[in-house]
Amino acid sequence: MRTVAIFNQAGGTGKTTLTMNLGYHFARRGFKVLLVDMDPQATLTNFMGLDPEELKATIYESLTSRKPLPIRKNIHGMDLVPANILLAGAEQELIASLNREARLRRALDEVRAAYDLALIDAPPSLGMLSILSLAASDGVVVPVQTHFKAYLGTDQLLRTVRGIQEEVNPDLRILGFVPMQFARRSTHDRDVLEALQEQLEKVAPVLPPIPMATAFKKASVEFKPLAAYDPRHHAVAVLEQITDALLEALGGGEDEV
Ligand SMILES: Nc1ncnc2c1ncn2[C@@H]1O[C@H](COP(=O)(O)OP(=O)(O)O)[C@@H](O)[C@H]1O
Ligand SMILES: [Mg+2]
Repeated sequence: MRTVAIFNQAGGTGKTTLTMNLGYHFARRGFKVLLVDMDPQATLTNFMGLDPEELKATIYESLTSRKPLPIRKNIHGMDLVPANILLAGAEQELIASLNREARLRRALDEVRAAYDLALIDAPPSLGMLSILSLAASDGVVVPVQTHFKAYLGTDQLLRTVRGIQEEVNPDLRILGFVPMQFARRSTHDRDVLEALQEQLEKVAPVLPPIPMATAFKKASVEFKPLAAYDPRHHAVAVLEQITDALLEALGGGEDEV
């Protein structure tokens, strides 16, 4: 099993959307996919059609009490470890625990044989839950909005990833940046995309930009990945290209990722 975190400390960049959609594209290709919600806001859990408040078991108990991962099976061909607001308390509770960074990695160890790919939807912060997410991952995918402010935030993000590589997880690799909510007709967006490509290509590949499209919002209201909601939507082809690129970055071509 390979583990990939979708990470950016800013909210609203499209992390959760990307996690669910990429998971779906990998699952369609025959990969056994586990999605892991590491955000106390539980947007992924919501997008997958569950009501976070009604859940008896979530990722929280696995991190704090080492309970087995509560896996919800076969939602659009993917499995999900859900979260809810309780997860917000985990940071505080883990403060005094030894080797707390390894808690998510350890929890995932139990299911390694059952999956080809785990995708972690990281929270919008640089706190403990993000550290746990990155410590558990082989690779990180960074969605970045094609806005100037988002562009400025990438420095801080890269410092965090480097810190994790130096202190906790030397094997962590940035698999790619995914420009998100790209408005092709906007000169501002085109300028920022160009600047992002120039700046970030030195660090990791800048993957094809995902267009701004209300269909993403509409699909999420129906609890569906875009390709299930509107298979012919032009952004579906872009998601396929990104899936190809990630497969290759993960050492694709083989039977397993
Ligand atoms: N490419 C896109 N075009 C238009 N809206 C998008 C796109 N990607 C995501 N969204 C919408 O933007 C909002 C924030 O996305 P989300 O994935 O929840 O971001 P994050 O997880 O980074 O906070 C959601 O309402 C989502 O439907
Ligand atoms: Mg989110």
